[in-house]
Amino acid sequence: MSYSKIVGVGHCVPDQVITNDYLSSLMDTNDAWIVERTGIHERRWVDPTKDTVANLAARASLKALERAGIGVKEVDFIVFATITPDYYFPGSGVLLQRELGLEGIGALDIRNACSGFIYALSVADQFIKSGMYKTILVVGAEIQSTALDVTTRGRNTAVIFGDGAGAVVLRPSEKPGILSTHLHSDGRFAEELYVRDPGSSRPREERQPEQILDTTTYKVVMNGSQVFKHAVVRFTEVINEALVANQVTKDQISLLIPHQANLRISQFIQEKMGLQNEQVFNNIMHYGNTTAASIPIALSEAFEQGRVRENDLLCLAAFGSGFTWASALIRW
Ligand code: UT7
Repeated sequence: MSYSKIVGVGHCVPDQVITNDYLSSLMDTNDAWIVERTGIHERRWVDPTKDTVANLAARASLKALERAGIGVKEVDFIVFATITPDYYFPGSGVLLQRELGLEGIGALDIRNACSGFIYALSVADQFIKSGMYKTILVVGAEIQSTALDVTTRGRNTAVIFGDGAGAVVLRPSEKPGILSTHLHSDGRFAEELYVRDPGSSRPREERQPEQILDTTTYKVVMNGSQVFKHAVVRFTEVINEALVANQVTKDQISLLIPHQANLRISQFIQEKMGLQNEQVFNNIMHYGNTTAASIPIALSEAFEQGRVRENDLLCLAAFGSGFTWASALIRW
């Protein structure tokens, strides 16, 4: 059997560091609340006059290609996960393709929010295993800061989300590789974490310019406690699903890289599954929740810190808007 394998990983975060104290100057919040409830100390925000989702993604992709020792022209497909594309349409996949000068190759956009990177990895894995493509860039990238409500009204989301990008290069391999991916959704909870507009289900009269001036429906709406409650259940479920499917135990996991939604969620999963500190990677303290970008950024940082070594067993897991949740078990 042939597999797909991650042969390079890279990330790129904007330079601008936004501290909790800075947010306290914009809204009624404080460092103690944010650290206690989320574990976040700071996050990165782009300079919107310079950065785009596609160029953050391009920088992460070039790093991943460099680490893989693969020339950019060898990339034959892009799978791009984001919920914050540069334009409403087209998706940012084609913009990344343009940035990299890869005229003519296919570019697919994935909109599965926090689970988007694992969905993207799963799609790319199937394309590699079927023999359709040989070198796929799988990207998660977000610019969320420009859409946040940074007044007290939006404080339950404004303090959480951040910007950044991560990418991996996927290639065929005789040795594993991606062992399995597991994807789920439950749309009954779609409105528990969503952005309403510009939604096509609005009647035309509600989409006139004077209505659109009311921008509140363009902001993130999140029922935090409801999302939290479902997250802790689904995360453990989908991690166990990956372990059972591959007949391995939790003790064999070298590193679990959960989507960085909230440090308390990661700690809850760690405790519930009985994992050691060295088995779980967290970097939400520095970047906040970067949605589809969080797993590849974390994977890239774990790699840089020497926490991902050859033959290690990695588990990626995510939960978020949709609801969607997913996992991937990987032999590095
Ligand atoms: O990426 C995947 C999806 N997202 C998640 O997984 C997020 C899951 N949920 C969470 O992380 C947490 O629910 C939050 C961090 C969003 C909120 O934490 P919480 O412990 O669930 O707080 P809460 O929403 O129950 O709010 C508690 C209090 C409220 O005040 P009252 O009603 O008790 O007076 C809020 O108004 O905290 C208040 N509050 C804040 N206070 C200071 C909410 N946001 C803030 C804030 N600063 N930024």
